[in-house]
Amino acid sequence: MTAPILRRLSDLRAKTAEWRRAGETIGLVPTMGALHAGHLSLAEAAKKACDRVIVTIFVNPKQFNKPEDLANYPRTEQDDAQKLAHLGIDLIYCPDPDQIYPDGYATNVSVGGSITAVMEGPFRPGHFDGVATVVAKLFLQTSADKAFFGQKDYQQLMVVTRMARDLDIPIEVIGCETVREASGLAMSSRNLLLSEDALAKAAALNAAMRDAAAKAAAGEPWAPLEASARQSLADAGFGDIEYFDLRCSETLEALDTPSRPSRLLAAAWMDGIRLIDNIAVHQLNS
Ligand code: PAF
Repeated sequence: MTAPILRRLSDLRAKTAEWRRAGETIGLVPTMGALHAGHLSLAEAAKKACDRVIVTIFVNPKQFNKPEDLANYPRTEQDDAQKLAHLGIDLIYCPDPDQIYPDGYATNVSVGGSITAVMEGPFRPGHFDGVATVVAKLFLQTSADKAFFGQKDYQQLMVVTRMARDLDIPIEVIGCETVREASGLAMSSRNLLLSEDALAKAAALNAAMRDAAAKAAAGEPWAPLEASARQSLADAGFGDIEYFDLRCSETLEALDTPSRPSRLLAAAWMDGIRLIDNIAVHQLNS
């Protein structure tokens, strides 16, 4: 049976108040829909950790810095509800736009510092403000105890964790493992926009990352590894490779060697679609 879909904040609050009165904990999985196995694994993790689970579906206009990206974003609400049906989640919150941004809405949540100054920050101006703003609202609207995010959007995970801490929102942010296709490609709603041929070629991104990470972990210097990965991605059919960076997992500072816990993070365009991925470098070595 599909979970009930609520569209009004007052209905959501009535439900969460009932759960609270019964002493139940609430888990939140924020999404923009077009659900794939990665989202479903977040809902499963929430289900294990909390008495009640809310999945939210809201395509947040504030986090798109290109209007065509917003227009092309897949919207598949009925399919999404079907995919969640077997997981036993308690409700799907698909807020009407005015429940998030009512007339006259004027507040922006902006996370500063080193974690937003690099990679997605400069390449997608305004994106993290849009994410931080909507996620702050979803945290407050649902009053969830725990929120589940995929590590695929590693920088986003850091941003929402920082935001919740800085604003004293009493919620635990939990990062869950990236779910991948058999080819290694990270699952993403954007993969739906790729042709079969482009999907096959896109697997080269994770392959190049794993190769570079293993070599960096074995002591090879980063600059030539990055250059050769960029070349192999271009050969595989990727267009613009926006970044292919070795960075500190905690501060996102650029590194020459993985001398402390580090991640390799990348963003590259395949057939007009922007793909991102990241992997832990140390784990490969340990
Ligand atoms: O990762 C996403 O799907 C979105 O950025 C999120 C966290 C649901 C906020 O709109």
